[in-house]
Amino acid sequence: MSSTDATPEEDMLIIHGGTPLEGDVTVRGAKNLVSKAMVAALLGTSPSVLRSVPAIRDVEVVTGLLRVHGVDVELDGDTLYMDPTSVESAGVEEINVHAGTSRIPILLCGPLLHRLGRAFIPDLGGCNIGGRPIDFHLDALREFGAVVEKDASGTHLSAPNGLHGIRYELDFPSVGATEQVLLTAVMAKGTTELRNAAIEPEIIDLICVLQKMGAIIKVHTNRVIEIVGVDELKGYRHRALPDRIEAASWASAALATEGSVFVRGAQQADMMTFLNVFRSIGGAYEVDDDPVEGGIRFWHPGTALKPVALETDVHPGLMTDWQQPIVVALTQADGLSIMHETVYENRFGYTSELRRMGANIELYSDCLGGTPCRWGRRNFLHSAVIAGPSKLHAADLQIPDLRAGFSHLIAAMAAEGTSRVYGVDRYITRGYENFEEKLLGLGAKIERPVTK
Ligand code: EPZ
Repeated sequence: MSSTDATPEEDMLIIHGGTPLEGDVTVRGAKNLVSKAMVAALLGTSPSVLRSVPAIRDVEVVTGLLRVHGVDVELDGDTLYMDPTSVESAGVEEINVHAGTSRIPILLCGPLLHRLGRAFIPDLGGCNIGGRPIDFHLDALREFGAVVEKDASGTHLSAPNGLHGIRYELDFPSVGATEQVLLTAVMAKGTTELRNAAIEPEIIDLICVLQKMGAIIKVHTNRVIEIVGVDELKGYRHRALPDRIEAASWASAALATEGSVFVRGAQQADMMTFLNVFRSIGGAYEVDDDPVEGGIRFWHPGTALKPVALETDVHPGLMTDWQQPIVVALTQADGLSIMHETVYENRFGYTSELRRMGANIELYSDCLGGTPCRWGRRNFLHSAVIAGPSKLHAADLQIPDLRAGFSHLIAAMAAEGTSRVYGVDRYITRGYENFEEKLLGLGAKIERPVTK
């Protein structure tokens, strides 16, 4: 059943809380690299092969988007074969069918402008965690030479005179806008210099993909990336880096439920900031470096968790996508913790559901406990104070977005009693592979409602 067919009652998980999660899970390639590497395949003159692809809905969405543009996409196990030799334009309606829930369509612009001379972006989906404008993307594309025209159906782009290299500085090190510039500059005429670029591990992995295809990209110090445009790129073979957001989600679930979870595939180097936070809260972990079977074991050591003051930031800071699972774990820490969200203006909506479960969380518009950020001046409720420990009790929960959704699952598993969590297929399957099987494997007491 697809998530769009399900009724609210069907799209629900019943969770009997109070059981520590114990066991092993495996994380595969990062959603936020895999979807971009799939777009990069559009630039090649020969087929690409991407390994460690997770079975998540965002991969299905990008597969649909590639297929309507004439790319032959086949999945064999966790290996994706993409043949872009017959790329063609797609109609507005065809694109809309596949685009409704994702922000990826915007990243197709540069590759499609290079391959076909035109591109179309529908209204973008994605998680509702702030305004999520695309001004950086469109502004950079215009600088490259694209003509951008909006109408009721969406945004149409063309490149009547081709695309040329630019010198560009981002107002904020946006992940998506950095990817946009990379995917466009690699085949633009001349050299591009991007300042204030995002340098998340997923971006470095995308640069590795593009380099395998024949691109020339230099990552300098101080967030400067230089790209020398080339005339042609070929296909790539690449293994996606592991999903550090999923890994941190399982780690936080182990801590909040007083359990112990070995996350096979989790990599220390990409998670250093999270590991420091995990340890300062009082969590324990051990790294196993084995290249095939390795990962990180995370567990609750049995002693009281400690409160901390944290703020999210761009890499190498604390990822905004780690914020929600950590906040659930902090409801169990002994004292006052602070979380200052500096990346998105509206990423604490989920805390109202946690409050209904007995968590003591207050939101503030001040930049608490850290550096002043752009949201403080604009009065957004973007700082949270969490007073713990709170005994969480069961509740009926409505998932508002992907990462918040997984946090609701963690909270329900940590709580006393039986919770009903609504929206699991709609949101969680976008980014967490086989999450129900994994939860059952860890001993979680979950079930689906009996439907007629
Ligand atoms: C990516 O979103 C991820 N999504 C997000 O993960 C992640 O939270 C985010 O990067 C930050 O790490 C994907 O990779 C598909 P941004 P993206 O551009 O690229 C502002 C998840 O759950 N901004 O770095 O859309 C924006 O409003 C998702 O996996 C502009 O102002 O994020 C935000 O405040 C959720 N104008 C900030 O920059 C623009 O044109 C960072 O956004 C673009 C962004």
